[in-house]
Amino acid sequence: MRLVALFSAGLAVLPYAVSAQKSVFAHIVVGNTAAHSVTTWGTDISLAQAAGIDAFVLNIGLGDTNTPGQVANAFSAAEAAGSTFKLFFAFDYLGGPSGAWPATGDFPNSVVSFVNKYKTSPAYFKFNNLPFVSTFEGTGNVNDWAQGGPIRSGTGGVYFVPDWTSLGPGGITGVSDKIDGAFNFDMWPEGAHNKTADVDKAWQGALGQKSYMMGVSPWFFHSATGFGPNWLWRGDDLWADSWAQTLDVNPQFVQIVTWNDYAEATYIGPLHDPSEIAAGSGQYVNNMPHDSWRDFLPYYIGKFKNSPPAIDRDQMQFWYRLAPASAGSTCGVTANNPNQGQQALPPDAVLQDGVFFSALLKADAKVTVQIGSGPLVSFDGKQGINHWSTPFNGNTGAPVFSIVRDGVTVNSGKGAAIEANTNLPSGCANYNAWVGSF
Ligand SMILES: *[C@@H]1O[C@H](CO)[C@@H](O)[C@H](O)[C@H]1NC(C)=O
Repeated sequence: MRLVALFSAGLAVLPYAVSAQKSVFAHIVVGNTAAHSVTTWGTDISLAQAAGIDAFVLNIGLGDTNTPGQVANAFSAAEAAGSTFKLFFAFDYLGGPSGAWPATGDFPNSVVSFVNKYKTSPAYFKFNNLPFVSTFEGTGNVNDWAQGGPIRSGTGGVYFVPDWTSLGPGGITGVSDKIDGAFNFDMWPEGAHNKTADVDKAWQGALGQKSYMMGVSPWFFHSATGFGPNWLWRGDDLWADSWAQTLDVNPQFVQIVTWNDYAEATYIGPLHDPSEIAAGSGQYVNNMPHDSWRDFLPYYIGKFKNSPPAIDRDQMQFWYRLAPASAGSTCGVTANNPNQGQQALPPDAVLQDGVFFSALLKADAKVTVQIGSGPLVSFDGKQGINHWSTPFNGNTGAPVFSIVRDGVTVNSGKGAAIEANTNLPSGCANYNAWVGSF
């Protein structure tokens, strides 16, 4: 979904205690599910559940005529699967054709009507016995969520954790009487930097005892023609770094962004149907699967919940762009989003030309990578999770990744070939990631 202004923050970090259950969600853009049947939803739900995800965040925009039918399909599928996997709404105040959500009014044109229609479903995610509700922005409508206001009185109560990122951690304290927690959408680093946990800790500090929902995203590249500005942020090590940071930040909730935002290249779910990919972005999404990013989620989520699963198999996951960042034309894509007050930079000033890879090891082992006929590079892996990268250094061809223990290759896999030049027919560079695993 469209992003709004991001704020850097340097607030003091307050002590924070988590007592209630921790949960991990994945963000589904319902607007990208127009071709879904109940069966398709069932597939998404079983894949997400296998990854250890607790619920889908159903991002819904006002006035999207597909929304009521697809929300109904999603709940049918979740209920048919036994309601052990949950769903809840994030009302998108910027993304829908009709703009901001009214608090009250007939279904499907208000917050209260959606919550009341689905809050009694056994598949609706509850927290403190209240239906859990979030947003994408909506800072012009904060009073709708006041205690005793139209939404809380019209629904009998909600557990409300909005994404009001544009307020920043400094501004959220001014509306703390209207929220039960907050979600911070600021999860990609600005410029040629790695993401740090500083912004998460600033939000957490500002929220005090209220729930913090931390965002975790693997990537960001948006270039659909006719959809406004085209930009990217550094992905690179982000997936591995952000999961490590969930242990440091230790939030109440984590939201993975996203399951199916193909145009922003953040998806970790499958590509079901080309018609669900926004016009103009298919060229950089097709043949660029991200499913392998789910492979380590049972481990990452287990660690986050203090109950990591036993590692019964030596696994790797690996991702990279298929050409150097300077190959092909930028076609107007900038690193950073100038619309958010960030300095536009050339993509190759921010993206690192390298392969990024993680290994989940039963026991210590050597991990090697070789790009095409380039040199074999070796790393010392420890039992548990490991993450590294290695630069292209001008090498092309398919990278081969191996786990070697006591001189024996115990597992190995090959990725898609890296080329010297862009592989998009348009001549534009493809800044999306190709993701694989074994
Ligand atoms: C960025 O993160 C990667 C992976 O965690 C690390 O290897 C690298 O040194 C970091 N770079 C900087 C400048 O901190």
